[in-house]
Amino acid sequence: MTAQIISGTEIAKQIREELKQEIAELKEKHNLIPGLVTVLVGEDPASQVYVKSKVRTCDALGVYSERHDLPVDTSEEELLTLIDKLNKDPRIHGILVQLPLPKHINETRVLYAIDPKKDVDGFHPVNVGKLMIGEPDYLPCTPHGIQQLLIRAGVKIEGAEVVIVGRSNIVGKPIANILLQKKDGANATVTICHTRTQDLAFHTKRADILIVAAGRPKAITADMVKEGVVVIDVGVNRIGKTESGKAILCGDVDFDAVKEKAKAISPVPGGVGPMTITMLMLNTVRAAKLGAGLA
Ligand code: GUN
Repeated sequence: MTAQIISGTEIAKQIREELKQEIAELKEKHNLIPGLVTVLVGEDPASQVYVKSKVRTCDALGVYSERHDLPVDTSEEELLTLIDKLNKDPRIHGILVQLPLPKHINETRVLYAIDPKKDVDGFHPVNVGKLMIGEPDYLPCTPHGIQQLLIRAGVKIEGAEVVIVGRSNIVGKPIANILLQKKDGANATVTICHTRTQDLAFHTKRADILIVAAGRPKAITADMVKEGVVVIDVGVNRIGKTESGKAILCGDVDFDAVKEKAKAISPVPGGVGPMTITMLMLNTVRAAKLGAGLA
């Protein structure tokens, strides 16, 4: 079987074109410019790459952006004071605090301090709860990106056996919630597996759609999937560096072997990655519209 390669790069490009149009219209008709602020504490190299890429995408789409890069020894109080100021800033519709934060800062306290209306990550408990009951203002970016990959690649989600590997608050739990909803692009039967699952392969072999966010290279091998499965690989593992110092990435799925059995599969890089930032832009536009009473 020759697998369809689900290109996040291509699908993200389509959605960004749609957003660019919408952003231009908001400016023209309503004099409204969506604004996103990124807050980065410390110098984690992966986080620096993510933040740079978020700011670059804002520029490309016509979203106003502000960047706060704070030293690693910033105190929790200082960070909370900044968030309070950003909560009140009318130019800012979305606040993104890049995770992970340094160990001396309580991540939960910080995420709770963001105004839920500006929580474009969808991590605030108000937004987690709204998603749970099927009334979301914002879908978290990576899970929403996964759903859009499936929909736009023409994968039938309704009634499908979806198996998720990984139960994080950022990916596993919210994607389960999204695909479980009684809505178009959802209505799946969902199983979540994790590090204490007794027989992982028993579950993964039953999957029509397998979503892998395990955080481990080659966690899923060809013998663990059925013929015709659709695979979304959320893994980002840095397995080395090129001579020029660029990180070499691989996913959580043994791509070369699994693609021989799969009907469709997303690559790493170029799969889920580009979708996450695109969905952040979508949430920022939504935040601006909600704030202006346009959504
Ligand atoms: N770190 C890794 N993924 C994410 C994300 O989606 N949002 C934020 N804020 N930090 C992250």
